[in-house]
Amino acid sequence: MNTTIDRIDYGPLAQLIGKWIGNRGLDNAPDANADPDLSDYTDELTFTLAGRAENAEEQELAAVRYHHMVRKNENGLIFHDQIGHWIFEAETGLVIHSLTIPRAVCVLAGGTLTQNGDETIFDVKATAGSDTFGVIQSPFMLEKAKTKAFHMIMKINKNELSYEETTSLFIYGKDFEHVDKSVLKRVTYDMD
Ligand code: HEM
Repeated sequence: MNTTIDRIDYGPLAQLIGKWIGNRGLDNAPDANADPDLSDYTDELTFTLAGRAENAEEQELAAVRYHHMVRKNENGLIFHDQIGHWIFEAETGLVIHSLTIPRAVCVLAGGTLTQNGDETIFDVKATAGSDTFGVIQSPFMLEKAKTKAFHMIMKINKNELSYEETTSLFIYGKDFEHVDKSVLKRVTYDMD
């Protein structure tokens, strides 16, 4: 597969480019009363080119930008929205996933990828308190709904993408594993 676009080699990130739609999402969210609180959802993921970055004249990175929008099947309303980048360092194979959600939480997760036949598996983690792959959250969230850790496995095989992400929370006085998973199909390679 040619992974060079606009004269930049995006490596394994090239296969993400385009728009993806899924209608098999499942959310397990925290709820003060209902435990677990499960919702089916439909989601859209759009990946666009973000170019290359050179850090300290030493580190070469390539990046794609994404937008993830999630609607609850029950009422059609957006109940999760997320933006960020996937970043790849060809020299070391390092993969970095950044995310921002409008609950005032940001995560920088790092990890590796493995190739299993036609399937590429991205596996990234972040832990609150780390100076590198960690979590930044507002004072309210830190006190009332703390994100302690994040782990995401995303698999891509040609035009199918699936992910499972676990956000480890401390909320309502106890630990809670907030899990989201979905399977999406690519609907276009266009980036608009
Ligand atoms: C498809 C992905 C996701 C969906 C559909 C989703 C959905 C939800 C829902 C429905 C709640 C409960 C909100 C409420 O009680 O009103 C929630 C809570 C929360 N989510 Fe997510 N979420 C997703 C991913 C994430 C990610 C990636 C993070 C952060 C890394 C995150 C962080 C949180 C936090 C901190 C809370 C606790 C806030 C609260 O319930 O008061 N979520 N999420």
